[in-house]
Amino acid sequence: MADKVVLAYSGGLDTTVAIPWMKENYGCEVIAVLIDVGRAGDQTVAKERALAAGALAAEVIDAQDVFADEYLAPVLRANALYEKKYPLVSALSRPLICKLMVDVAKRHGADAVAHGCTGKGNDQVRFTLGLLSLDPELEILAPARDWGMSREQCIAYAEERNIPISVTKKSPYSIDSNLWGRSIECGVLENPWNEPPADIYELTTDPESAPDKPTYIEIGFESGTPVSLDGAKMSLRELITAVETVVGANGFGRVDMVENRLIGIKSREIYESPAGLALIMAHQHLEDMVLERDTTHFKYLAEQKYTEMVYNGKWFSPLTRALDAFISSTQEPVTGTIRLKLYKGQCTVVGRKSSESLYNLDLATYETGDLFSHESAAGFLDLYGLPLKVWAMREKNKGE
Ligand code: ARG
Repeated sequence: MADKVVLAYSGGLDTTVAIPWMKENYGCEVIAVLIDVGRAGDQTVAKERALAAGALAAEVIDAQDVFADEYLAPVLRANALYEKKYPLVSALSRPLICKLMVDVAKRHGADAVAHGCTGKGNDQVRFTLGLLSLDPELEILAPARDWGMSREQCIAYAEERNIPISVTKKSPYSIDSNLWGRSIECGVLENPWNEPPADIYELTTDPESAPDKPTYIEIGFESGTPVSLDGAKMSLRELITAVETVVGANGFGRVDMVENRLIGIKSREIYESPAGLALIMAHQHLEDMVLERDTTHFKYLAEQKYTEMVYNGKWFSPLTRALDAFISSTQEPVTGTIRLKLYKGQCTVVGRKSSESLYNLDLATYETGDLFSHESAAGFLDLYGLPLKVWAMREKNKGE
């Protein structure tokens, strides 16, 4: 049994209750670590809460820049959308949280790590796989999977022990958020026929009440990474926040889907990721102009596998790393500017330019005097169509 456990602490009910519960049931000391990957709430309050709940120590780690540079940048290069829709919001914070938990465990000489996930979701998979990939010897504890308490029982458990929890505004939803966006589940959303209530959204304006005039923004990329908004250079973390504000205000960035979870069930999910979805769109359109055709087409296959691997919690696996290396190797020419038009829930690419462009007007134009060899086209088609022609002749002869 574990003596000293590093707990991934969120400040919420489950991970707060996990502190005394693990002490009582596993007989261990608990070190709470709150990792800020964006939208972490009031960290001073959370830290005090962890200590009041009986943690031996409580640490806060600001990981927002690392999260942006080492986790969001690569998935953006991969245009990662699980099942063509979900920009992997929650799947992305887990590997970084695991990495930092393992560091903290080493520093404190802890022999176990713990997370607050229940048994039904993907996040327990991501924690377990991430942690065991980084240190196969650490014990991994999942108190919320073991205790079998309902939410009401958790509240009562905390109250009996005078543990400060803030369930004043009891949200019927399960929400996970970070710099890339928000994931919203449960409550009325469990019926896939129900339209999501307006009050679940925080990052996006209702398209119906978005401004009546379009807004244009320009995203500058350097080797696959966005580096500027409307010409102003900024860090990726700052850029994501700035893009989110303007894109969200125009009502773009919502996803409502039924998703295949790794553990076999389908779930109804709502996501908000205004910056994520707009940046992926911009990045993809820039690639269309600068990547050579075979690379573009093969990259689709690599992207899909990479996205699935990340969704399924295998961030640190050899295949994910190899796919990331391939994807990164294509990005050198992905430099240029994309112009987006935002209007009442829509985001459209309306302009692109790049010093690396393979778009050649002299070849593409339908005006006279182009450089495209029309005679070569005729000869090319004689050969390209040859197998089909031979086949069609055989079929025709059969019919006669
Ligand atoms: N279904 C999504 C995923 O697997 C979202 C999970 C969000 N977690 C939560 N506690 N609401 O990535």
